[in-house]
Amino acid sequence: MNILVTGGLGFIGSHTTVELIKNNHEVIIADNLINSKIEVLDKLSTITGIKPSFYQIDVTDESQVEEIFSNHKINGVIHFAGLKAVGESVSKPLEYYFNNLVSTMALSKLCVKHRVDKFVFSSSATVYGDQPSPLKEDMDLKKTTNPYGETKAMSERILTDTAHANDGFAVSLLRYFNPVGAHESGLIGEDPNGIPNNLMPFVTKVAKGQLPKLSVLGNDYDTIDGTGVRDYIHVVDLAKGHVKAIENLKNGVNIYNLGTGRGTSVLELVNAFMKVNDIDVPYEIVGRRPGDIATCYADASKAEKELDWKAELGIEEMVRDAWKFEMNNK
Ligand code: WQD
Repeated sequence: MNILVTGGLGFIGSHTTVELIKNNHEVIIADNLINSKIEVLDKLSTITGIKPSFYQIDVTDESQVEEIFSNHKINGVIHFAGLKAVGESVSKPLEYYFNNLVSTMALSKLCVKHRVDKFVFSSSATVYGDQPSPLKEDMDLKKTTNPYGETKAMSERILTDTAHANDGFAVSLLRYFNPVGAHESGLIGEDPNGIPNNLMPFVTKVAKGQLPKLSVLGNDYDTIDGTGVRDYIHVVDLAKGHVKAIENLKNGVNIYNLGTGRGTSVLELVNAFMKVNDIDVPYEIVGRRPGDIATCYADASKAEKELDWKAELGIEEMVRDAWKFEMNNK
C-alpha cells in the first residue's frame, strides 16, 4: 500500500516508516520539522535502501496536504504529526488545540474526499486519565490533566464520528503507553529538540554528561519503590504494531492499547540503564511533577488477539538501544 505518514521524521514516525518499508509498503512522509530533523530522511534510506517521498509541510494546511493526495495514490494514512509536550500544552493550550485538532480534521476531510479508507491515529494512554491500571480499551475515558491529553481524546472523537458518518472509512486509534529505545542501527531514535520532557532522553543526556543529573520526580507514590510506574514499550515494537494495525484494519472504529502490559518504576529503569550500559546516571529525588499519576500500564490483550501483535522487547533492549543511539547521535 501507499501510506502517507505525517510526522514521519519524528521518533515514532521514523521507526514506523522503517517497518512499513520492510513490509513492502511505499511511504510518503509529511513533516514540518518542528520536532524532527531533515537528516533522518537520509538515515531512513541508509537503513532501508529506499528514500521515501518527503514533503516539508504543515499538515494543518489543507491545500498543502491536498497536493500530496493529487501527486500520489494514497491507500492509507498514519497520523503522527502533533505537538506532544504535556507541560508545554498547559502553557500554550491554543497552539496545541489548533495544531493537533486542525491537522486531524484536515486529514480526515481529505481522506473522505479522496476515498482513502484507512486511517491510523497516534493516540495516547493519557486519554484514560487517572484510573486504576491495567487500562482496558472499553473503559470510560476520564478528563485528562492537560490540553495535550485533551487533544488526543478530542481527535479520537473526531475520527470516531467521521467513521460513523462515512461508510468504509476505517479508523484505528492506537493508545501508546511510554515509547522508549531506538532502532538497532543506532541511526534513528528519540531526539527531541531542546530540553527533554520524557524520562529516557533525560537519562541518556545525563549519562552522556550533557545534563548534570536526573531529577527523579517524586518517590512517595504508592508503588514498589515510591517512584512512578509506567508501561515502557520499545519503539520498534510500537512501530510493528502500526504496520499490523493498518494491514488488518477492520471497518468502523478500532481501539488498541500498544503497551507491554508490564509496569516499571523510574528507579528500576534507571538502575537497568546503569547496569546494562555499565555507566553512571547521577540522580536526585525531588518533588512530584504536577499532573503525574502513580501507576499506568496496559492491558495489551486486545491487540494481541485482534492484530496478532505483541511487544517482544524488554527493558534491557530498551535501555541498550536508547544508549547506543545517544552515543551515535552527535
Ligand atoms: C515517565 C515517568 C515521571 C522525567 C508522557 C505523556 C504521554 C506520552 C509519554 C507522548 C514518570 C518520571 C520523568 C524526569 C522523572 N507522551 N520522570 N524525571 O509522563 O508517563 O507520559 O510522555 O506521547 O502521553 O503523558 O512520561 O517520560 O515524562 O515520565 O522522574 O525528568 O518518569 O514522573 O513517573 P509520562 P515521562
